[in-house]
Amino acid sequence: MPTILEEYVAKHQGSAQQYAEASQLFPSGVTHDNRYAEPFPLYMTHGLGPRKWDVDGHEYIDYVSGHGALLLGHSHPAIVAAVAHQVARGTHLGAGTEEEIRWAKAIKALMPAVEKLRFHSSGTEATLMAMRLARAYTGKNKIIKLRNHFHGWHDYAMSGSDRPAPGIPAASWGSMVIVPAGDLGAVEQALTRDHDIAGLILEPTGAHYGQLPFNIPTYLKGLRELTSRHGVVLIFDEVVTGFRASPGGAQMRYGVEPDLTTLAKIVAGGLPGGAVGGKAEIVDMIAHRGDPAWDNQRRVYHPGTFNGNPLTAAAGIACLELIASQPINQRADAMADRLKAGLNDIFARTEMAGHAHGIASMIHVVLADCDCDREICTMSHEEIHHAVAGPAVTALKRGLLNQGVDIMGREAFLVSATHTEREIDQTLAAFEATLAAVRAEGLA
Ligand SMILES: Cc1ncc(COP(=O)(O)O)c(C=O)c1O
Repeated sequence: MPTILEEYVAKHQGSAQQYAEASQLFPSGVTHDNRYAEPFPLYMTHGLGPRKWDVDGHEYIDYVSGHGALLLGHSHPAIVAAVAHQVARGTHLGAGTEEEIRWAKAIKALMPAVEKLRFHSSGTEATLMAMRLARAYTGKNKIIKLRNHFHGWHDYAMSGSDRPAPGIPAASWGSMVIVPAGDLGAVEQALTRDHDIAGLILEPTGAHYGQLPFNIPTYLKGLRELTSRHGVVLIFDEVVTGFRASPGGAQMRYGVEPDLTTLAKIVAGGLPGGAVGGKAEIVDMIAHRGDPAWDNQRRVYHPGTFNGNPLTAAAGIACLELIASQPINQRADAMADRLKAGLNDIFARTEMAGHAHGIASMIHVVLADCDCDREICTMSHEEIHHAVAGPAVTALKRGLLNQGVDIMGREAFLVSATHTEREIDQTLAAFEATLAAVRAEGLA
């Protein structure tokens, strides 16, 4: 009986070859740090709906879901048609287009707190701009960020995380104030002590789209009250939760309106794109006023070659109009609920330490027991961190790939509206078999 690792290597020789070639071209053979895997990552050829295929011809049920971008699954017919139509009409017209107007209206229709917006090419750009807008609007310099919350890879976003950080000037972190997530007292203390705070940014369901949650409703309402009282711009980073936590994002699900929202992934219908939107008077810090003193000195500058490009706009419109008009979220959420219940049932039946938690279509597996309500995990963030970092989780991810299931990172399932009971039940069978193999190797 081969080990999980031996089976992985034997099954994926095509990927091993691609990796050898890719390693000559890209650091670690990959183009996104999260795709790095040992002994080599898998190389894919194409996807359709909830499934995708690798270079060795193996089929996978996909829970990476385009790093969260594909709420509609791979190559949804409406998006394929919209993009095909647009690509023949031009991908960059060097001017405003009707498409960018329709795209903006589709966002506003789902997220009423977005009064005005600007488009970007990624979530990283969106959070960079949101922080800058907060500073320009308030005339203050600092941003509060919650420990371990992820807002992309620009210098400011990288503060307060456990990632390596060479190449980032210490000065850029001097303007960041890091507080522990979930602790309203810590935020209040920071705001009372420091009068140079412009904004507070967070992932509204907890770090890594809810892997490290807090008491979401209470915390978000508390942050809204505190930031309003102190005149600080509240920024929800809804790059993942936007249109996934609910059709109107986490802000709609929990009834708390931020001042600014950052978006990417689903908003762009599976193509590269992002946006920052919110209160008109804040976003209008970018607007020209016809007053040289303002336009040349105080206005926030915002270029960007591919901002609002018509190809992404076409995909974004198609995606958001479907979310607005069909039970897309309900379908994804129902399948995620089935998956979560099934995973918890497996842990209970096999008496293995572990549980699954999460909201909407974002499910996290932790190889440790917890008596939480399975939506908001109550383990400490350190404990969760520890539980998802061990060799058992690496073996689980690898074993699931052997069984034809690809999960996000090493522990998350991002479910799309195209996953059906068939995919979920197949996934559960694969999970149970993999867990048994992990246990057989003495890892769990
Ligand atoms: C919450 C959050 N913010 C920002 C980003 C950065 O987005 P991008 O990868 O498009 O730059 C991500 C990416 O995963 C994210 O999860």
